[in-house]
Amino acid sequence: MKKEILFSLNGIEVSVFVLGHERLIDVLRKHLSLTGTKEGCGQGECGACTVIVDGRAVNSCLYPALEISGKSVLTIEGLQGPEHRLSVLQQAFVDCGAIQCGYCTPGMILSVKALLDSNPKPTEEEIREALQGNLCRCTGYVQIITAVKQAARHLLELS
Ligand code: FES
Ligand code: FES
Repeated sequence: MKKEILFSLNGIEVSVFVLGHERLIDVLRKHLSLTGTKEGCGQGECGACTVIVDGRAVNSCLYPALEISGKSVLTIEGLQGPEHRLSVLQQAFVDCGAIQCGYCTPGMILSVKALLDSNPKPTEEEIREALQGNLCRCTGYVQIITAVKQAARHLLELS
């Protein structure tokens, strides 16, 4: 039997009817057609499905949909700059060559956003720690770390 959940998604209140076994990623991708959130392992190991819930980066493949009621969710679709331009963080990933196939990118970017929102001047060690749950098969991480440092610099300049 389906139950209604009400939550804030990228700043907009939404209502969805879900089954007890469904996960947050099912709500996003299947019910709401927000396919920016990717499913890789489905077991909490790759980070491709990372979104932000109440300010914290979580694996949406492990997050029970029923528990999202009353919470605030940010997905990659909600992370735009003014006039639908890329956000500073997204642009830094593009500029630094931190995207190849792109499958890991939404999850990476949301993990980094959660980090920079709570720690605007992270050390390289802190960046690596924040990204330890996000796997990338393509880039070797060097460009990703560079992108995070560049984004952090730009965000501080803008603040
Ligand atoms: S799909 Fe969620 S951690 Fe891999
Ligand atoms: S860019 Fe391909 S998995 Fe990261």
